[in-house]
Amino acid sequence: MDARQMKIRAAAEALKHVESGMRLGIGTGSTAEEFVRLLAEKVADGFSVVGVPTSERTARLCLELNVPLASLDEMPELDLTIDGADEIDAGLRLIKGGGGALLREKIVAAASKRMIVIADESKVVDVLGAFPLPIEVNAFGMTATRIAIEHLAEKSGLTGEIAPRRSGDGLYKTDGGHFILDASFGRIPDAEALSSGLNVIPGVVEHGLFINLASLAIIAGTGGARTLAA
Ligand code: A5P
Repeated sequence: MDARQMKIRAAAEALKHVESGMRLGIGTGSTAEEFVRLLAEKVADGFSVVGVPTSERTARLCLELNVPLASLDEMPELDLTIDGADEIDAGLRLIKGGGGALLREKIVAAASKRMIVIADESKVVDVLGAFPLPIEVNAFGMTATRIAIEHLAEKSGLTGEIAPRRSGDGLYKTDGGHFILDASFGRIPDAEALSSGLNVIPGVVEHGLFINLASLAIIAGTGGARTLAA
């Protein structure tokens, strides 16, 4: 079974949690896209849901596949969000934002009664941090913001490069028009403390540590799917 098949397996399991009439947050990334494809098949068979996409990329796919959409302002309270992740630990803490959609993903997850994470086994880790932590920052004063993050990291005993994400010849821009700093800390032993520290740095728009947001993770491996619960 290849990686794509595992993503489809996790997405198919997640689809079992979706009930007719639900207001659904729809994540971003290759795993979330497999979910959208399966959801679209159900919608084509008459299943009724309305989704709030977490990125322009997901919105485009949903529109292409005729999955009904609303904006979060039109539908500010959601029943369930299904999204992927870059890393998941046993406490259902996540690193997200590899696809650059962390800000909308976090707002949508926070507006949902439940969040289910879908992933393959490669995303499960003992300690978060091998995947560089995406930190979305305002374009204004980005270097000052990076220096403040470096000071926080130093105080927290974290080392590693904090580098602006690039795209082609320039800097990567998010759907919200911000930039992303990828922090290669290697290990983040206290994700809660780092999250709190980042939250109070002016210029940090959002970061990819998702804590107390996911209630279930569906992890697909070659032998089947298992769940991790909060
Ligand atoms: C998007 O910004 C991310 O948070 C994705 O959810 C994450 O990168 C997982 O993507 P894949 O499913 O493509 O691995």
